[in-house]
Formats: sequence, structure tokens, C-alpha cells
Amino acid sequence: MSDISDVPQQAWWRTAVIYEVYVRSFADGDGDGVGDLAGLRERLPHLRDLGVDAIWLTPFFRSPMVDGGYDVSDYRDVDPSLGSLADFDAMLAAAHALDLRVIIDVVPNHTSSQHAWFTQALQELPGGPARARYHFHPATTDGEPPNDWESVFGGPAWTRTADGEWYLHLFDPAQPDLNWDNPDVRVEFEGVLRFWLDRGVDGFRIDVAHGMVKAAGYPAAGLTGQIGLLGRRVLPYFDQDGVHEIHKAWRKILDSYPGQRMAVAEAWASTPQRLARYTAPDELHQAFNFEFLQADWGDPAAVRASIDSCLHAAGSVGAPATWVLSNHDVRRHVTRLGSLERANAAALLMLALPGSAYLYQGDELGLPEVLDLPADARQDPVWFRSGGTDPGRDGCRVPLPWESEAPAYGFSATGASWLPQPPAWAALARDRSSTVDLYRAALALRRRLTGPLRWHESPDGVLDFARDGFRCIVNLSPEPVALPDGAEVALASRPIDGSTVPADATVWIFARTARSS
Ligand code: GLC
Repeated sequence: MSDISDVPQQAWWRTAVIYEVYVRSFADGDGDGVGDLAGLRERLPHLRDLGVDAIWLTPFFRSPMVDGGYDVSDYRDVDPSLGSLADFDAMLAAAHALDLRVIIDVVPNHTSSQHAWFTQALQELPGGPARARYHFHPATTDGEPPNDWESVFGGPAWTRTADGEWYLHLFDPAQPDLNWDNPDVRVEFEGVLRFWLDRGVDGFRIDVAHGMVKAAGYPAAGLTGQIGLLGRRVLPYFDQDGVHEIHKAWRKILDSYPGQRMAVAEAWASTPQRLARYTAPDELHQAFNFEFLQADWGDPAAVRASIDSCLHAAGSVGAPATWVLSNHDVRRHVTRLGSLERANAAALLMLALPGSAYLYQGDELGLPEVLDLPADARQDPVWFRSGGTDPGRDGCRVPLPWESEAPAYGFSATGASWLPQPPAWAALARDRSSTVDLYRAALALRRRLTGPLRWHESPDGVLDFARDGFRCIVNLSPEPVALPDGAEVALASRPIDGSTVPADATVWIFARTARSS
């Protein structure tokens, strides 16, 4: 018998399923219609029962909430609308007691314009030390912004101050970009990481991890429509080499703590190879594969190609591929892919892949995007800056339904909800067990999926691969396809009738006896 100590200990994050909690929309503990840390704590057993390994919490720090908390005014405190530091500690202890790890967002590319550093900078004369922590720049001689950079939320990435200088904001004007060449900034964020690590968090999701360093001299991008090129071109303000030095320094801090603390990069890099640089052994642990999220599900060969390129690139640096289908910034995949059947097929495919996977709250309920939010309810700066032409991200952030008959469908005891919930939430809450059960079964079985992925030849529209002892068949064609002879179905995203896989379905098959399959 082999001694258990001979088995190399896999770091938990290499295969983890991590559930994204958009805190303001998960569960409301105090009845004000905004989800909070107390509400999350009460609902943690749902996540334990689902079988996820960890949760990622979107920002809950003190914030004017111009961008849903991604505009932080105090990185070491909890926003009063979401609770207190004591609520955070209680939630963290409760999660750990349920064997759920907790990773939190860190937002280092920009602060809120209400952050003490920025208000101080505005009070100071041009050229002063508080301004040096941000990107302040004189206007051109004809009074134009310093260059042609565009904000991700639309419009110029520069805003003019009362004294005529301009400051840089890659997102909303209420989110001024920090200058990471300034040593104060580096020291401050190392302190912020330690503050939360000391409280016991298991890691960080690093917001805009590719954006902190800007090309020297602010060269023109030379393009319009830069937002559309996000992740397709190296722009002078994204994916610059200098960001890797920051991540290396942060990795040392994470490694200096016990218990396998980790970090995942939100980085929009132009190729899987460039993305893989963020997960070099001395940098971060994971980086979201947005290429997979954006793959065209009408073209199964493209889905397979994106899986291969992500696996190959992550493998080239010894990192786990990190899969995601939905998050708080994109249209929910039930709506994107056109049906719940296809969404569930995609989820079973994702969960069968080697590596780590992220779920977004409500995936396990089959929630669609809410497309018809009234204009006066909208909150996303993307909506406002586009003059209402871009629906923005509110539709994937509508508070969750928990119970069909309760006020606010169980989200809030008073019936309040910061974004209106559609009537469809009643049926989704009533029928929640069908999709929840599928996810729960998948997460339990997934623990038995090991080994690399090997593709089988398959008809057009069908993806078919094996991992040790398992086979996964995804039918994205309109016709049913035959199951292999003697297949023992372990799990299917749609009911299996006879020996075929219906359209828009994924099945997992035990293949323990067939060593070649
Ligand atoms: C990230 C967040 C997004 C936010 C932006 C600016 O992309 O996921 O929600 O608006 O950064 O912080």
C-alpha cells in the first residue's frame, strides 16, 4: 500500500470551482433592498450544498457606488450599505467553518474620486506630490485632452480639472487611474493585501490586472473604437510589460502566508500566450480565459479550438486553465447561447475540462439576462455614458430569486430590491431544484475527473473528449448522435432517451473498462 504522504498534494486552486458572489445582489440581510455580508452569511449553506470549493466576493469596500463598488474610497473598510468589518469577519469565519474558501476583489488600477488621495490631489497645485499618485497631465496647446485614449465605458479617457490639468480614467471619471510608477501606490497596495490576508482571506481576484502600467510618454493609440479592441490588440494602456513586476511582488506576499493563498487575474490580453504570462510560476495563480467565454457556440469547431489554445497556453507555464461562462460584466450565458438547454450543455462541458472553473451567482438557477429593465432603474455607468444606447451590465446583476412566494422572491425580507426583479423570477425560484440538482451532481462527479483531455473523432457539431475513466460528449448539432456502445451515462444536461444524445446536450459517460476511450 502506498503511503498517503507519497501522494503529491495538489494545490486547491488548480481544480477548484469558485462561485462569484455579486454581493449587492445575492441576499439582503438588513431589508434595505441591497444584498450585504450578513445576507451572504445566512445563505452560505446553499453554496456548501451546491459543492463549490470557494467563493469570490465582488468589492464590498467603502465606495460611492458609481461603478457598483469598483470605485473604492477606502480599501480597508466595508461600505456601510453592505455591513461592517465585524460582519466581514463573521461571514469569513462561517464560510471557513463550512469548508468554503473566500477570495475577495482588489481594485488596484484606480481609486474612487472620493478617495482621500484624490480629493487631496484636486486641492493641490499642478505638479504636487498627491497628483503624482495619479496621471495628471497638462492640456495640449489647443486645450485638447493629452492624447486619444478612450474610456472602456465610452468617451475620452481624460477629464479636465478646474485648474486646466487633465486626469486619466480608463473607466468612469469617478475612477481616476493610479500611477503605479509612484512608490506610494506600491507600498499602499502591499499594505492592503496584507490587511486582508491577515484577516484570513484565501486570495484575491485582481481587477484590471493588465491595466496598472501605462506606456511611457502616453503615446497615442492611433485608433477609434478602442473598446471594441479590448483583448484583441496590445494598447498603450493595457498589457504592458511593467505589470508583471507588480504581480511578481504580490506573488511573494501571497507565498509568505500559510495555507495556499492565491490570486486570479482579470486580464484582457490579446492572445492566450500573452494571458499565460500572468500565470508564470512566479506571478499569479490563475487568469480567466475570456477567449472561451467569447467563443462562438454556433461553431463547435471554434469552441474546441479555444479550449485547445487555452489549455496549451496555460499548460506552457504550468498553470491551470481557468474557465468562465458568465460574470457580472457580461450578458448571462442562458441568454447569450439562446436557451437553458444550451447553457446547461455548456456548463457541463466547462465543468468537465481540466483546470479551475468559475460560476456566476444564478448560473445554478438557469437565470437569463433581464433585458427590459426600465431606464429609471438602471445604475450602470456604461448605460449612462452611452446615452442609453448600450444596455450595460445591470441585466446580469438583478438580485437573485430564492423562493417563489416570498417578498422580493426571498432576496429581501421587506420586498425591496435595488434593481427590479422580473415576474419570471417566481417560476425560476419554484423550479430551482432542476438546474440546482444538475450543478450539484456535476460538482460532485467532477471531483472524480482527473487527467488530461484527449479528443475523439466526432461528427460535425459534436465535441467528444475523454479524461481518465470518463468521456464527455457535447452535441451542438441539430440531430441526435449515438452514444458509444455500452456507455454508462453518469450525468446528462438533458434527459437521455435510449442510446442517443439529443441536440443541445452534454453527457458524461463512465468509461472505466474501456482504457482506450
Ligand atoms: C472590471 C470589473 C468591472 C468594472 C471595471 C472597472 O472589469 O469586472 O465590473 O466596471 O473593472 O473597475
